Amino acid sequence: MDRAQPSPPVEKRVDGAVSNPELEREIKQLGGELHGSFPSALRHPVRAVDARAMEMASSDRELRAALFRFVDVVPACRSLDDVARHLTDFLDEVPEAPPPLEAAMRIAHTKAGRAALGAAAARGVRHIAHRFIVGETPRAALSVLSQLWNRGIASSVDLLGEATVTAAEADRYAHRCAAALAELAAAVRGWPERPMLERDATGTLPRANLSVKVSALTPLLRADAPALGKQDAARRLRPLLVGAREQRAHIHIDMESLDSREAVLDLVLELLSEPEFAEGPSAGVVLQAYLRDSPQQLEQILAWTRAHTRTPPLQVRLVKGAYWDHELVQARQQGWPAPVFEVKAECDRNFETLTRRLLEARPAVRVAVASHNLRSVSHAIAYNRLLGAPDTELELQVLRGLGDELQDALAQHGFRVRTYCPVGDLVAGMAYLVRRLLENTSNEAFISEQARNTPLETLLAAP
Ligand code: 2OP
Repeated sequence: MDRAQPSPPVEKRVDGAVSNPELEREIKQLGGELHGSFPSALRHPVRAVDARAMEMASSDRELRAALFRFVDVVPACRSLDDVARHLTDFLDEVPEAPPPLEAAMRIAHTKAGRAALGAAAARGVRHIAHRFIVGETPRAALSVLSQLWNRGIASSVDLLGEATVTAAEADRYAHRCAAALAELAAAVRGWPERPMLERDATGTLPRANLSVKVSALTPLLRADAPALGKQDAARRLRPLLVGAREQRAHIHIDMESLDSREAVLDLVLELLSEPEFAEGPSAGVVLQAYLRDSPQQLEQILAWTRAHTRTPPLQVRLVKGAYWDHELVQARQQGWPAPVFEVKAECDRNFETLTRRLLEARPAVRVAVASHNLRSVSHAIAYNRLLGAPDTELELQVLRGLGDELQDALAQHGFRVRTYCPVGDLVAGMAYLVRRLLENTSNEAFISEQARNTPLETLLAAP
């Protein structure tokens, strides 16, 4: 930490990686302990089926593309017949469909067959959605959120819906956010005390926590006219900051695709610089480690925290990034060099470098490390300990449905873990769902869960 003892020696290797035997030992030890608490696949038969479906989807590029387009149209379908027709249309484009799909396409030639296939497909999509989405409304989500809390797990609610196209939609989203803040703040008052989840060295951590997407707060967020989008989003974000401060809730601004990054970061830092917000609400931003220029972005954030001492400190949530495919396609279309790391090890190394920089920058920032990668998480905990800081000074975050095993293991070992919990309906959740499927099935296994049967040593090896 800036004002604590000097950072432990970390030597640079020729490939840019670092080596510190003590850190590596601690990572192996911790990672082994956490891994030892993961439930076995046998105790989770549904998960095992999901994993097989995901494996099948990732093994075939065309099939993957067809399934993603299918998932996109399901919410707009009027009938099961409609669902089945779309499914077979998409699968028709797959040159060599795997055997079970061939069979599915054969039954789709009759109306009854199509209805059966449509029902099965719609059930499949709903099943996947329920794994990632906690409820249709904040009220419906409250029981899950309080169950998590009782088990020692904090949450951040994400109201699904993004990339709005009209002002009326943006107003509705802002209204839903304000209502969710009030509803959450009222509900959490009755929750039992969980000191690990509600206090760190800089003070109280709000129980109510809402994540917000700026693309949902304005239809005008465009890379070629950032000022317009910022101004329009500010009109709706400012009252939410006031609301969060009054309700003593935390508000976290998500980062989205690169074309909106500058506008989003500028907007948040500008608003939080206003004297009105110098003492709240508790707020946070996101740093995406897959972006090659993320180290510079972190320096920009840290420079801001040096110039604006606020209480509580700004929280920085470090993530790998969820728009990897989008950024690559966009760059290829425009003939730009890829803004993201294309090699997993390079991204993982950058994630660790940013983790260390963030942990050393405390208490100017609060740090949340959001990853499902056992090595990245163990590295963060180990480095925090090596700096001499207690475990309370680090927050770990996971996504509902994707990081459940890690979430349970972290809570069981007494770490502060916060689960990102999407709330909303299937239509609003489609873009979110597709991002989760892309992450889960990417050929490059770029942002992957711990692959089944991968030896622990490989999972925990330095990238
Ligand atoms: C997303 O919406 C989790 O914010 C991330 O994909």
